[in-house]
Amino acid sequence: MKAILLAGGKGTRLRPLTLHTPKPIVPIFDRPFLQYQIDLLRQVPEIDEIVLSLNYQPRRIEEVFGSGGDLGVHIRYVVEPQPLGTGGAIKFAAGHYSGEPLVVFNGDVLTAVDLPAVLALHRERQAAATIVLTPVENPTAYGLVETDADGNVRAFLEKPTPDQIRCNTINAGIYVLEPDTLGRIPSDVAYSIERGYFPSLVANGETFVAYVYDGYWLDIGTPEKYRQAHIDIMDGRFPAPPFQAAPGTALVSPEARIEDGATVEAPCFIGAGAVVRAGARIGPYSVIGSSCHIGENAVVDGAILWPNTWVDAGAEVGPALTGRHCHIGRQARVAGGTLLGDKSVLTDYSSI
Ligand code: GDD
Ligand code: MG
Repeated sequence: MKAILLAGGKGTRLRPLTLHTPKPIVPIFDRPFLQYQIDLLRQVPEIDEIVLSLNYQPRRIEEVFGSGGDLGVHIRYVVEPQPLGTGGAIKFAAGHYSGEPLVVFNGDVLTAVDLPAVLALHRERQAAATIVLTPVENPTAYGLVETDADGNVRAFLEKPTPDQIRCNTINAGIYVLEPDTLGRIPSDVAYSIERGYFPSLVANGETFVAYVYDGYWLDIGTPEKYRQAHIDIMDGRFPAPPFQAAPGTALVSPEARIEDGATVEAPCFIGAGAVVRAGARIGPYSVIGSSCHIGENAVVDGAILWPNTWVDAGAEVGPALTGRHCHIGRQARVAGGTLLGDKSVLTDYSSI
C-alpha cells in the first residue's frame, strides 16, 4: 500500500523561517517535522512505500530522509515540474497506480489519529473516499465538512466565510482514496482536491465517508501553531519524542553544557552542543537548538532558537522564533512574537 505525503507547499505563513528550510522539515525540537508523520504511517504495516510529493526545495528534503532506511521505511520522491495543487500533486504522485487504496496526508499536520481504524472504516463502508475530520473553534482557515447522521459527507467548502459556517468539523488533511476515483483530476495542470475532487464526490453522490477524530490535531503552518506544537509536546498533550517519556521536564542533552549559576526552568529543551553560561536563565517552554550559545546573564523565555544561534551576554529573548545562525547582540531585547530568519544579526543594545 502506498502513502502520499503532500509536502510541496512553500510554507509562506512561516516565512522567513521557511526561506531556507521547507515546511516539511522545519525542526520540532531536534527532529524534522515529517518524521512525526512517518512515525504515524508506520502504524500500518501494509504501507510499504511512502511517496513524498514535492516541488519547493526538494533536494533539501531528500538530503534529510534519503531512502528512508534509517527510519525503517521505504521513501520515494516525486517532484512536480510546477506546483500542481493538492489534487494535481496526488494524481502526479500516484502515477498509474491501481489496486489498494491510497493513504494521503497534508504534510503539515501533527496528529495521533488511529490510522488503522480509518482504513478499517473505509473498507467496511466500501467508500470511494474517506476523510478524517476534526472539530475546531474557527473553521474559516480550513475546509469545512458537513456530514449526515450516517457519517457521509454532505458538503465540502474550502476556506468558508463566517456566514457559511454551519458546523465545526473541518478537513484534517488525512484521506484514504480509491485510485480509480482520481480519473476526474486533469493531468499536468493545477487542481485542488479541496475545491474540485471532494465537491465532485458529493455532487455525484459517491460513497464519501467521514471519520471524526477529536484527539490531538494541529496544522503547524503558522508561527503561533508551530510554537504551540512544541508546547503541546512538552506538556504531554501530544505524547511524542523527545518528551514522550518525560513530559513537563527540562530535557537537556548530555552533550549540552550548563554552567554553574545558570537557571533552567522546566519544561524546556536544550539540544546537543548548546552552552548556557553562568547567570543565564532559560525560562519554561524555551527550545534551545543544538550548538546555540546563551551568554552570561542572558534570558531566553519561551523562545524557539534554531541551531547555532548566539545570544550574547545580558540579552533578553521572549517567546520569539529565530532561524539558524542568528546573532543577538549584548543587552539586546527581542519581544515575544518576533520572527527572525536565518543569519539575522541584531546589534548590541538593539530592541525589536
Ligand atoms: N506537492 C504539492 N504541490 N504539495 C502541495 C501543493 C502543491 O502544489 N500545494 C500545497 N501542498 C501541500 C502543502 O505543503 C501542505 O502540506 C498541504 O499540501 C496543504 O496545503 P496548505 O497550504 O497547508 O493548505 P491549508 O493548510 O491552507 O489547507 C489544507 O489543510 C487544512 C488542514 O490543515 C486544506 O486541505 C484544508 O481543507 C484543511 O482543512
Ligand atoms: Mg496547512
